[in-house]
Amino acid sequence: METIVALCKRRGFIFQSSEIYGGLNGFFDYGPLGVELKKNIRDCWWNDMVRRRDDVVGIETSIIMHPKVWQASGHVDGFTDPLVDCKASKQRYRADQLFFSPVVVDGTVVAYVSALESERTTAELQEAAEALKRKRGIQGKLEPVQPRDMTEAKAEEIALIPSPATGEPGSLTPPRAFNMMFETNVGALRDASSVAYLRPETAQGMFVDFKNVVDTGRVKLPFGIAQIGKSFRNEITPRNFIFRSREFEQMEMEYFIHEDADWSKCHQEWIEWCKQWLISVGLPESHLSLYAHPKEKLAFYSKGTVDIMFKYPFGVQELWGIAARGNYDLGQHATASGKPQEIFDEATKKKFVPHVIEPAVGVDRIFLAVLCAGYAEEEVTDEKGNAEKRVVLRLSPRVAPVKVAVLPLLKNKEALTQRAQALYRKLQRRYAVFYDESGAIGRRYRRQDEIGTPWCVTIDFDTVEKDGTFTLRERDSMQQRRISEAELFALSEETVY
Ligand code: GAP
Repeated sequence: METIVALCKRRGFIFQSSEIYGGLNGFFDYGPLGVELKKNIRDCWWNDMVRRRDDVVGIETSIIMHPKVWQASGHVDGFTDPLVDCKASKQRYRADQLFFSPVVVDGTVVAYVSALESERTTAELQEAAEALKRKRGIQGKLEPVQPRDMTEAKAEEIALIPSPATGEPGSLTPPRAFNMMFETNVGALRDASSVAYLRPETAQGMFVDFKNVVDTGRVKLPFGIAQIGKSFRNEITPRNFIFRSREFEQMEMEYFIHEDADWSKCHQEWIEWCKQWLISVGLPESHLSLYAHPKEKLAFYSKGTVDIMFKYPFGVQELWGIAARGNYDLGQHATASGKPQEIFDEATKKKFVPHVIEPAVGVDRIFLAVLCAGYAEEEVTDEKGNAEKRVVLRLSPRVAPVKVAVLPLLKNKEALTQRAQALYRKLQRRYAVFYDESGAIGRRYRRQDEIGTPWCVTIDFDTVEKDGTFTLRERDSMQQRRISEAELFALSEETVY
């Protein structure tokens, strides 16, 4: 992760927000290359999810909505994470990410150890237990640790569990519900009547506008409403770079189906669609897995949720959630607003509230997955035959921030630079391209490898004096071949969109 974070900063993908003031935890800025990569992810999703499907339409709803939306949806009362305070250090932890275990020697609990959730939680707890036994000179057989998180701690255990900040017990509080919505005030008055929220998900926009979309007459069940936009959550522990932040971007789609439709089949189809889409933007199938939420942990209205998980460097984590939400949301808004959210069934001549399947994914999480999967360091031989390290981002041409780099072989030969500029301007009309005439050609290739540019084209004397073809150098294979302008356009056309 440190390597990826360093590359992001060095090459202008991602910066810390407000960096000159020390940064703001959980907020990030996207730099010149990052903004292109992010836009490409969004565009691919929008094209595939909305434009290329006849059964999905798009909308864009406001970030601040009527506060009653969030009461009806259940967010005001229930959008909480369990929070544990350390009274000594003033640190705050998410209770379900703070693990502990009794230290048991010869069947007796002699103390407790704690560790924050990581790939090595159990190992860290075991090491802490062994260290504690050694330090206190306790004799006897140490039993393997049994990790539980703080939501599972019994009242009498809480005072005995050490705070990760101080290493001492006695300062942790019992978990309490912490609402993650950011509050603001709308209008000139700042009192309870003006409280509003920054949306914690884009989904409610689709439910609240459901009737508006139906009434425009373009849709018939089954159909989806999709939206891309910013969401805000006051996460207790933003972490893992852009994986969990406080301001992030979601791409969500609500797929409305008949109340009698086979929801399970539809759910499966969307899981498969989402998985294939991730592969289409360059994520290797080997890094993807499915996690079905256990029935007992589902919200009462939910029929099933499956997460597509991605193998990040910090562990296998949720990338895309696909939930079958029944007709809970539309039902809630119908009751709260007094406006029926029904559809008329021509076959049965009855009205009903449609059910919904919801694929919901974060743009930033895809961004991070794409970078992690694409990053590679290789040993290669330079033009002089010396071994050197090559850093390469093997990004799919669909999302690569720069599609083609145009490189005149020499910068002081006007014939070459003019031809290169002409090609550059032509390519620029379609997508982001880069013109680079400075430095040895090998160095210029490396610069492009590091930012994931799939193709470099070099304009040389043969280009201007002979048949107009130029050298195309492929990022992954590093192979070079002669190619005409028409072939270059056809190649990029085929793979970019
Ligand atoms: N409408 C359903 C919903 O919002 P969610 O699982 O809370 O469900 C959906 O969020 C997706 O949004 C997640 O799978 C993840 O990709 C992304 N996401 C959620 N919280 C995030 C955060 N704090 N930072 C970055 N992405 C986040």
